[in-house]
Amino acid sequence: MIVKNPRFEISAVSPKQYPHNGLPEIVLVGKSNVGKSSFINTMLNRKSIARTSNTPGKTRQINFYNIDEQFYFVDLPGYGYSEMSKSEQLKVGHFIEEYLSKSKYISCIVLLLDIRHKPTENDRLMYRFLIDNNFPFFVITNKADKIAITKVNKAVQEICDFLNPMHDIVFLPFSAERKIYVENAWIEIEKYLK
Ligand code: GTP
Ligand code: MG
Repeated sequence: MIVKNPRFEISAVSPKQYPHNGLPEIVLVGKSNVGKSSFINTMLNRKSIARTSNTPGKTRQINFYNIDEQFYFVDLPGYGYSEMSKSEQLKVGHFIEEYLSKSKYISCIVLLLDIRHKPTENDRLMYRFLIDNNFPFFVITNKADKIAITKVNKAVQEICDFLNPMHDIVFLPFSAERKIYVENAWIEIEKYLK
């Protein structure tokens, strides 16, 4: 995919602010700090079009990035940030749920996990939610630079065995930091943009 002019379009807090021009949406979900915003930057080969942070909980609203008037990357707030107050966590959970249930243009959801760890309880719940609601989705296991390159395939396999023993969902490695495995992620996303 050659991206020419990606641009931030809107930070939405309620459905009436979501764009309504019919462009397909590729949506990033995952726990706080897993690298959703970094994923978008790396895919777009831009440093900071999506705001990232060392402090979990950076993305609090639903950010829409318009990619060449072809589709949106939608950056959702992360779930499961324990330092956030209970009421803030509920608010974030509500945003995510409202968006997933109300957007009419979701083309594909990218569930981001941390390649180093067994999926958390919240990861499992999100995975089940996507399956149970028939969302088109695939899984990216991010932060692959944090483990030896020789162990990457095995780590992806273990996470897949855990969540998806039937192996009917796509699981891919990624490193937003090192910008590796980017092409495979694009190939997967492009399948949903045809
Ligand atoms: P929230 O907005 O809080 O939900 O977080 P997020 O999922 O958008 O994470 P973000 O992209 O802000 O990244 C969180 C931290 O992880 C930042 O310090 C990033 O630099 C770091 N990070 C993201 N991707 C990678 C990666 O592939 N490898 C490494 N080593 N660090 C990464
Ligand atoms: Mg973010």
